[in-house]
Amino acid sequence: MSKITDEVFKNVVSHAKEYGFVFPSSEIYDGLSAVYDYGQNGAELKNNIKTYWWKSMVQMHENIVGIDSAIFMHPKIWKASGHVDGFADPMIDNKDSQKRYRADQLIEDKIAALDAEGKTDEAEVLQTDMDAALKAEDLQRLKEIIIDARIVCPISKTANWTDVRQFNLMFSTQMGAMAEESSEIYLRPETAQGIFVNFLNVQKSGRMKIPFGIAQIGKAFRNEVIARQFIIRMREFEQMEMQFFVRPGTEMIWYDYWKQARLKWHLGLGTSAEKYRYHDHTKLAHYANAAVDIEYDFPFGFKEVEGIHSRTDFDLSQHQKFSGKKMQYFDPELGEDGKPYGNYIPFVIETSIGLDRMFLLTMINAYEEEDLSTEERQDSRVVLRFPPALAPVKAAIFPLTKKDGLPEKAREIMDRLKLDFAVQYEEKDAIGKRYRRQDAIGTPICITVDHQSLEDNTVTIRHRDSMEQERVPADQLEKIIGELVSWGKLLA
Ligand code: GAP
Repeated sequence: MSKITDEVFKNVVSHAKEYGFVFPSSEIYDGLSAVYDYGQNGAELKNNIKTYWWKSMVQMHENIVGIDSAIFMHPKIWKASGHVDGFADPMIDNKDSQKRYRADQLIEDKIAALDAEGKTDEAEVLQTDMDAALKAEDLQRLKEIIIDARIVCPISKTANWTDVRQFNLMFSTQMGAMAEESSEIYLRPETAQGIFVNFLNVQKSGRMKIPFGIAQIGKAFRNEVIARQFIIRMREFEQMEMQFFVRPGTEMIWYDYWKQARLKWHLGLGTSAEKYRYHDHTKLAHYANAAVDIEYDFPFGFKEVEGIHSRTDFDLSQHQKFSGKKMQYFDPELGEDGKPYGNYIPFVIETSIGLDRMFLLTMINAYEEEDLSTEERQDSRVVLRFPPALAPVKAAIFPLTKKDGLPEKAREIMDRLKLDFAVQYEEKDAIGKRYRRQDAIGTPICITVDHQSLEDNTVTIRHRDSMEQERVPADQLEKIIGELVSWGKLLA
């Protein structure tokens, strides 16, 4: 497998556009910064990643159920959760270029540059200083660090900086038509709060017993100060989150459990373990007492894909306080003293993965520019080696030619297979060209109908990865494709 360099990463981004995976949003109006649309193949791939997550969380765990809560929520929720007061990034402007930056990001970039130059001691000192300033929320100190480290604006190349200020990342809008009656509401910056406020509804209606989890997939919105690296940092994105409610005192056992379980989910896709690492947090979010990121080795370095957070009873306690409703659970199980644990506010372990980052990871991991040259001629192909269950199209059906009843036979097979699988029919161009188009979108098999098919009802299957071909009975196709794309292979 060829190493994904910066150059190849650029190719991945343009491939994603050319083949209908990801488009810049509002492109005909020159785009909208940090917002993207998913095209015909991207939407399928994204749905398949969601399915893999949903199945592994909800279907595979008898004590986890899924919900779909509204994006709009009562504004008090964000006061209770701490987002109105605390969900902010430190930003700084360069007075010459008028460009805005995240102060911590500027320092991070400097640390990376020092590391690259081999000045690791200097980089370490800078990291420690920054962590301390962030922890103490000392904005003045952050500015001093930027000045002392001689960090300049990448555009103006000057160090003419404003003070560092906190910038709240939540988008707000008005709900209600009449100005005087309308209230300010927020677009949710995480899906988790929709789970917390439904904790009692789900627990009671589902007669759930602790420990249990509630999972959700949905859009989240953050007015990120800077957007970068394609779909890594977006202003509208999607999260797949699960809150696991546990008895107080058992949270670290479950934290470790989910830390392992989530990495296993990633590796289930066949990605090399070397591409992943854990990153323990030193600076914790306002709600957490332990947190770890699962990071992936993107072409631009290791980046967070998923976070596992021990959120204590912070959120439920805050909602109890702000709503005046009891957020407690009665635990009938007997403790060591022989008495029931009784009423308590559960502790929570959260797993939170960014769907768009997972999408990019899947694209990068699958992308290969393969040299197929022989002594006689130069040849190459771009192939997306998706795990078959995630592939946007599971099989493509080709009549060898457009005549002699071959299209009719191919259509007959297509009409059968589409009942169970996402399949595509193609009759244009030579077979070789059709193979290449399907390789480029990651279709695991191509099925060719030829004259022999009319006689003995067999077809040729060509495999994406090996490019090998085999002859199989057409009535075996459901079974062959079914086994190839089975979710069981990923979930086992
Ligand atoms: N409920 C906890 C929470 O939201 P987070 O670490 O802020 O935690 C979780 O976000 C995941 O959401 C991240 O690991 C990342 O994959 C994804 N994510 C966060 N901000 C994002 C953004 N601006 N664009 C794309 N994905 C983002």
